Amino acid sequence: MSQPAPLPDAPTALDERSGAAPAQPREQPLAQPLERSLEAGGYSFVVVASRLPVDRAEGPDGETEWRASPGGLVAALEPIVREAGGAWVGWPGDAGDAPEPFDSSGMHLVGVGLSAAEVRDFYEGFCNATLWPLYHDVIAPPQFRRPWWDAYVRVNRRFAQAAAAQAAPGATVWVHDYQLQLVPGMLRALRADVRIGFFNHIPFPGYEIFAQLPWRRQIVTGLLGADLLGFQRQGDTANFLRACRRAAGLTTRGSRVRVPDSVPAVADHPGPARHQWESDGGGSREVRAAAFPISIDSASYEALASRDDVRARAREIREALGQPSLVLLGVDRLDYTKGILHRLTAYGEVLDEGRLGVPEAVLVLVASPSRERVEQYRLLRDEVEVTVGRINGKHAELGNPPVHYLHQSYPREEMAALYLAADVMLVTSLRDGMNLVAKEYVACRADETGALVLSEFTGAADELSGAFLVNPHDIEGLKDTIVRAAAVSPAEARRRMRSMRRRVREHDVAYWAASFLRALEKSPEQAPAPAR
Ligand code: F6P
Repeated sequence: MSQPAPLPDAPTALDERSGAAPAQPREQPLAQPLERSLEAGGYSFVVVASRLPVDRAEGPDGETEWRASPGGLVAALEPIVREAGGAWVGWPGDAGDAPEPFDSSGMHLVGVGLSAAEVRDFYEGFCNATLWPLYHDVIAPPQFRRPWWDAYVRVNRRFAQAAAAQAAPGATVWVHDYQLQLVPGMLRALRADVRIGFFNHIPFPGYEIFAQLPWRRQIVTGLLGADLLGFQRQGDTANFLRACRRAAGLTTRGSRVRVPDSVPAVADHPGPARHQWESDGGGSREVRAAAFPISIDSASYEALASRDDVRARAREIREALGQPSLVLLGVDRLDYTKGILHRLTAYGEVLDEGRLGVPEAVLVLVASPSRERVEQYRLLRDEVEVTVGRINGKHAELGNPPVHYLHQSYPREEMAALYLAADVMLVTSLRDGMNLVAKEYVACRADETGALVLSEFTGAADELSGAFLVNPHDIEGLKDTIVRAAAVSPAEARRRMRSMRRRVREHDVAYWAASFLRALEKSPEQAPAPAR
C-alpha cells in the first residue's frame, strides 16, 4: 500500500501528543498559599484546558514554532473561544517555561509552564498513570504515588492562578477534563465572583473503583468549586453524585449537590473534619451535575468528505490496498482503553476460520502514537505490534497483508479519505468517554453507505443506535458482529446510517457547547463581585 504521508500536527479526534523534551526543573513549593486575589483580568470568557490549542515545537532551524493542535477538545472549543474573543489557559505541550501570553486567531493564549519533573509527575504520573486507568475501569492498574499527587496539586494551582489573572469581574470560566479537577475549587477561593463550569471528557468511574483513590475527597470537593459540572453520560453523572455522598458525605437532591461553605475548596487545606460539614450551621451553595454528550463539527467533516481531492484520495487508498471488496478500519490513539488487541484477536480468528480472507478483506489499523513514556503504553505498543506481525505472518499473501498497521498521525483530509474508503469502521473501546472517531466516520458517509461496529462501552453508543453495538470482551460476539456488519444489505446500511447521521448533524459540537453554557448561565447562584 502506498502509505499516506505522516502528519507533523495532531490529527482529528485522536489528539496525538508526544512525550516532552527535557528542560530545567522549575518547582514551586507545594505549600504556597492560595490567597484571595482581588486583581481581575480583562476576559469575560476563559477556557482552561490541560493543553493550549497550539503546540510549541522546534522548527527546522531550531526556532520555536507554534503548530495547530486540532484534537477533539480543541476542535470543539476553538470556534467558541474565538467568537467570544476569549482567553485560553493551557500547557504548551513540552517541558520548560511558559511563553509570554500571545494572541492567535482571535484568542488570547496563556501558557502554563511545566518543568521536566512536573511533566513526569503530573502529566505522565498522576494524570496518565493514576487517573486515566482509574477512570477507565482499571483496565490497567492505577499507581498511587504521593509525590505525583503533590505535583497534581501544585500544577492545578498554577492553572487556577493563571485563569484568575485573566478573568474579568463576573467572567465565565470553563475548566476541562481530569487533569484539572482541583482548579474549580482553587479558582473559587481566588475569585468568588466568577461563574465556573467544568466538563469531564472521560468517564467518571463507579464508586467502588473511585473509592480506591487516596485523595478521593479532595477531588470531589475540588470539582464542587464549579457551579455546573458536565459529564458525557448519565451514568457518569450518577457515579459522580454517588461519590459526593460517599466520599464527601454531602447531600444530593436529583442532579444537585448541597455544598456547605465549610467544605474546603482547596485540596491541601485541612478544613473541618467531615462530620462537621453538615452541622456547622453556616451557609451553603448548590452545584448542578448533568450529562452533555460532546460532539464534532459535523458540517466541516461532511464538507471535507465531499471535496474532489479527498474523494480521489479515498479511491487511491482502495487501489493501494489492492482493490479489496471489504475494507475494515480502526482509528485510535494507541491506548489500552481502545480495545485494539480485542479487535485484532477477533479479526485474526475470523481469518483463521475462513469467514473472511485476503485478498478480499483488509484491515487498516491507524494507531497514533500517544503518551509514549508511560510504561503501559510502551507495553501495549509491543503487544499490538507482535499481534499484527503474527496475523500477517500467518495470513498474508505476497503483496496482500490482512492488516495494514500505521503507527502515525494524519491530517483531517487524510482521515476523511480513510473514512470514505472504509466499508466497516471498528470502534471496540473497553471504556471511552465519548469516541469522536465514530461520529467523524458517520459525518463523512454522506451517501449513507458503510457500517459502524461500536462498543457499548463508549459514550457514543448512547446516541448512535444505528451502529452494530458490541461487547468487545465477548470475542465470539465481536467476530459475529464484524462478519454481520461486513455483509449488511445496502438497504439496511442506509437505514442505520441515516439515523446516525441525523443525530450527529443535529447534535454537533456547537449544540454541545451552547447547551452547556446556557445551563451554566442559569446555574444556581452567582456570588457577588469582589469589592475593588
Ligand atoms: O480525552 C481525554 C484527553 O486527555 C483529551 O483531553 C486529549 O485530547 C486526549 O485525551 C489526548 O491526551 P494527551 O493530552 O495526554 O495527549
